[in-house]
Amino acid sequence: MSEWYHDSVFYELYIRAYQDSTGNGRGDFRGAIERLDHIKSLGVDCIWIMPHYASPLLDGGYDISDYRDVHPDFGTLDDFKAFLDAAHARGLRVVTDLVMNHTSDQHPWFQAARQDKDSPYRDYYVWSDTGTEYAETRIIFLDVEASNWSYDDVAGQYFWHRFYSSQPDLNYDNPKVHEEMFDVMRFWLDMGIDGFRVDAIPYLYEREGTNCENLPETHLFLQKMRRMVDAEYPECLLIAEANMWPEELLPYFGTAENPEFQICFHFPIMPRLYQALRAQDKTAIEEIWARTPDIPEGTSWMTFLRNHDELTLEMVTPEVRQWMWEQYAPEPRMKQNMGIRRRLAPLMDNNKQKWFLINALFLSLPGVPILYYGDEIGMSDNIWLPDRHGVRTPMQWDASKNAGFSDADELYFPVIENYREVNVAAQEKDPTSYLNLTRRLLQVRSEQPALRHGGFAFVETGNTAVLAFRRFIDEQSILCVFNLSDEEQVVMLDEKRPYRDVLSNENATFDISLAPRAVHWFI
Ligand code: GLC
Repeated sequence: MSEWYHDSVFYELYIRAYQDSTGNGRGDFRGAIERLDHIKSLGVDCIWIMPHYASPLLDGGYDISDYRDVHPDFGTLDDFKAFLDAAHARGLRVVTDLVMNHTSDQHPWFQAARQDKDSPYRDYYVWSDTGTEYAETRIIFLDVEASNWSYDDVAGQYFWHRFYSSQPDLNYDNPKVHEEMFDVMRFWLDMGIDGFRVDAIPYLYEREGTNCENLPETHLFLQKMRRMVDAEYPECLLIAEANMWPEELLPYFGTAENPEFQICFHFPIMPRLYQALRAQDKTAIEEIWARTPDIPEGTSWMTFLRNHDELTLEMVTPEVRQWMWEQYAPEPRMKQNMGIRRRLAPLMDNNKQKWFLINALFLSLPGVPILYYGDEIGMSDNIWLPDRHGVRTPMQWDASKNAGFSDADELYFPVIENYREVNVAAQEKDPTSYLNLTRRLLQVRSEQPALRHGGFAFVETGNTAVLAFRRFIDEQSILCVFNLSDEEQVVMLDEKRPYRDVLSNENATFDISLAPRAVHWFI
């Protein structure tokens, strides 16, 4: 496979939120086509689209009722294909979400399974007479679900679900389920997509006496999936969503003989970027990288600041979680499950300097970065909407009705109130807008191969408020320096030579005084 992904920047797109082309108040593929030039203008290379399948939408589309069809709100299969072609025509690749751990309870497989014990589909799901098995398994949607088992009256048995009770888990002990899922993958790959972000993969199997996560059986299945993909679609990219510690993530890359994913999200680094910034102390970042193993040749981490879910705090200690809630979720409604349902700009107190610092930091760490739609203009959130919907509101294009998202009088969710000030059109002309700062960061990053895919080493600054590291490749090296504190700091850099900051184009010497929240990418 050509390893194009190492050099790419990704963008997470929620079709429902992007552009309504029919006037029904909901975004669709035809609308999104009109907005591809915006995505391209950022300097992005690949789009991840959140689930676009037929679904009752009880979990943002992660509850699929037909894997081979597009949700009617989003358009038709032809519209999907037109979107794909339009993206490809602009040099943008497209990966879709593959939700393989569970279906919607509206899926015909589950409907057949619950109605007839002898149906071949019964064994597509995980059943119990008592609902007492696998008691060591944690509950993920803690705010809503009390158990991973729910009783189904029609079936007369309990069924297993790691997420909402409307999302029964598929039974991967049944090889027919493997074949079904492979056929789903073939269906979309035959249409020309470039890969999948594979949802919730740690939970595919259940075994008594374990926590039912990251099981050896799960890895064997994922290796089988990769063998199918390599044999039939060698250009297909697979991205793992596994919200786990670094040492648990490593096996999801597999080995040279038995590969699994080319890319895994690095979940634990994400909350530590916020933690370091608020504590004005780099220690948490250094510690998690020290704990991050080397990964196989040809693979990469994926880094992110926000996504469509709550800002998860599952990968921090209970003490840090509490502290993060105090710092970043002062209102009870800002909390959700084990995380925080807020967007990037408000988390940064709508302070552009902090927003710039955390973006520059995440864009200079090793890994393939992914941006979340709307964060490039500093969009806000709406904590009064239920579930995670407060970070999934309509994209803000201009100051006209509904922020230019739709002509309808009623939208799937209201536009954030400040849209007249915060929108793409208003930010186009201002070189210091969130939008143009995003473009600038991506542009400068794209010109520095060391930042895109170089090696990584921390540089001692003798000051816990100043984080510094080098990225290097061949003869090229770039020194990234971040003053996490809101006070001026003086540091000595590691070499006595003049430096040039590629972000500001200004020169500096080795003995520098750093302005509050300063960011430098020195060559
Ligand atoms: C993933 C998705 C999340 C969804 C869950 C269940 O974690 O990111 O949005 O609710 O899987 O499918």
